[in-house]
Amino acid sequence: MAVDLKTTFCGLEFKNPMIVPAGVHGRSGEVIREISTYGPAAICTKTIVSQSAPDVLPCFSPVSAGMVNSVFGSDKTAEYWFNRGIAEAKEGESLVIANLAGFTPEEAGDLAEKAEKAGADMIMLPTHCPHMGEILAAMFPGMPNAEPKLTDLEPMKQSVARIKNKVKIPVVVKLSGTFLHIVKTWARGVKEAGADGIACSDALGPALSIDIYSGEPVLGGPRGVGGLTGPAIMPITLRMVLEAAMETDLPIIGVGGVQSAADMVQYFMAGATLVGVCTAGHLKGPKRYSKILYDLEQLLKELGVFSPSELRGKTLQRIKMREEAHRQAVTEKIVPEVFFDTCTGCGICERVCAYDAVKVVNKKAVMDNDRCIGCGLCVASCPERALSQVYYP
Ligand SMILES: Cc1cc2nc3c(=O)[nH]c(=O)nc-3n(C[C@H](O)[C@H](O)[C@H](O)COP(=O)(O)O)c2cc1C
Repeated sequence: MAVDLKTTFCGLEFKNPMIVPAGVHGRSGEVIREISTYGPAAICTKTIVSQSAPDVLPCFSPVSAGMVNSVFGSDKTAEYWFNRGIAEAKEGESLVIANLAGFTPEEAGDLAEKAEKAGADMIMLPTHCPHMGEILAAMFPGMPNAEPKLTDLEPMKQSVARIKNKVKIPVVVKLSGTFLHIVKTWARGVKEAGADGIACSDALGPALSIDIYSGEPVLGGPRGVGGLTGPAIMPITLRMVLEAAMETDLPIIGVGGVQSAADMVQYFMAGATLVGVCTAGHLKGPKRYSKILYDLEQLLKELGVFSPSELRGKTLQRIKMREEAHRQAVTEKIVPEVFFDTCTGCGICERVCAYDAVKVVNKKAVMDNDRCIGCGLCVASCPERALSQVYYP
């Protein structure tokens, strides 16, 4: 049986489970059309707003595991998107998701209505941006509500109600990375608001990078802070997806740090139906989308599944099994077993072991049972999967 990547989300058919969330590859209709040739099933516009503000500069910088950015919404007007941009994007091979935000719920409803009329297939509503508040306050002194309260779900709920009143296409709320400790509350709130799905998450932050030659914050703005994206955030955004999946039955788009097919698989297992790839496409170029999709097909074959849906929520089941087996706090160590046929003697296990419990002897890893504390680092670091340690059968 061949692998089938087709995925249904909120009643819409996606040719595969990859979307490109709002970012530079959603900056215009023309760009979306071009990026669609690299294979993603759907592409988001940059956030459409009624009044765009210029970005503070510099606005992008790489950091060791991703990037920081201080950009706002789309620099194109809402009229551009509704009169031309969405139509041009729709000439491509991907579905088009209108990511939009209103300064009031009424405005969000009006923008969504126009986006639907222009041909958008879905609406995505972002909730909070880590750097926006202080930059807006500096740019427009005295601006009311420049920094919305993280614990105030009302504006989101009212916006969703207003949008749902105006459009028939699915409405997905994108949780902010700044909700990392209150994901369950927000996921519940999104469900109560009547949205059709959750995207999780936007950038984390505020985050900072400093130029060591000048001491200057690398990004523009009052303190030079921005939103952190890319691999640095994935372990957190993945856990956020897991919690959203535990809390609601809404379908989820997992977003944050995806670089590879294996990263997509982790999001499916945590409960996501679709997965977003943004920074990887920005920093490594759009061919990365096609590569991840190609690799995903191969990886699913290797895992013995024929559709991403077979993996969905697998981790939720495993967590339940830990509870049922009373294995929530295992403390008896298991010393890894070495598969000598697979071990190449590369020495990574020896290097990462802080307990001197692994040595490479005659090009094979050898464990010291007394020194080993069973921490699992060598097992997880082995590129050949030549070490095994089964704590959860
Ligand atoms: C340069 C850049 C611009 C972004 N612009 C937006 C935006 O306009 N609206 C939005 O909701 N998210 C925006 N995001 C956040 C992404 O959509 C995504 O949620 C985040 O980058 C995490 O995914 P990643 O780690 O794959 O990049 C932006 C991210 C980047 C890197």
